[in-house]
Amino acid sequence: MSEQSPKHGQGSERSIRSAEPGGQGSNDNVSHDVSHAEKAYARWAPLYDAVFTHVMRPGRRAIAAAANGRVAETGVRMLNVGVGTGLELPMFDRSFQITSIDLSEPMLEIARKRVRDLALSNVIELKAMDAHNLQYPDAGFDMAVAPYFVTIVPDPHRCLDEMARVVRPGGEIMLVNHIAAERGPIAWAESLLAKVGPSLGWDPRFPWSVIGDWIDRRSDIELLERRTLVPLGMFSLIRLARN
Ligand SMILES: C[S@@+](CC[C@H](N)C(=O)[O-])C[C@H]1O[C@@H](n2cnc3c(N)ncnc32)[C@H](O)[C@@H]1O
Repeated sequence: MSEQSPKHGQGSERSIRSAEPGGQGSNDNVSHDVSHAEKAYARWAPLYDAVFTHVMRPGRRAIAAAANGRVAETGVRMLNVGVGTGLELPMFDRSFQITSIDLSEPMLEIARKRVRDLALSNVIELKAMDAHNLQYPDAGFDMAVAPYFVTIVPDPHRCLDEMARVVRPGGEIMLVNHIAAERGPIAWAESLLAKVGPSLGWDPRFPWSVIGDWIDRRSDIELLERRTLVPLGMFSLIRLARN
């Protein structure tokens, strides 16, 4: 898995502008270098399920349980951001209409096979798209879920802004990811791990302040829940209300 710390304004080897002006996306498209993630996940795709199915399952289960708690609402329209190979898709309630996006075609190909094999007819779209520029209109979804996603993108605030834009007032945004420890032996171990970050492909120093600062900046976003998940406490579930 390639988890990077947030990087703002990196040099652009290859950038994707997803939405066309006048299209369905936001009209202030921004360009980010997503080539690192695209290459990394093209390499990871054939191995991803073998390596990451089990270790990250608790987080997927937690986000699905939180989302499924809203099943009383009829016809929930869900956006799944960074769906990868679709490991979370079978965990969501079958009444949800799920639109899924990911940057990586090789990852999406595996997700499409999963949807076919498991006959997940409620997954209505699996589309290649950069989450910095979602090609969807404002307020068209009841919730957005992003398991193991915001820590790997160049501009987490932009991706969160985009999720907030496409979720209707009264909806929810749900995240699962690693949040760095602020002090103590785990923080120390994480800073050691970060020194070998490039070889691990994962920087464990993603601080809560990235999400906390975004919430502070947005008068329409409220933190509903931040919960460390068992086992190991490596990942957290974060639920945000879009007011
Ligand atoms: C760690 S994987 C998580 C996949 C899946 N949600 C899971 O739980 O296994 C992160 C996914 O985000 C995708 N991704 C990375 N950058 C992206 C971007 N800018 N826009 C959309 N997807 C992106 C990657 O291609 C990858 O499939």
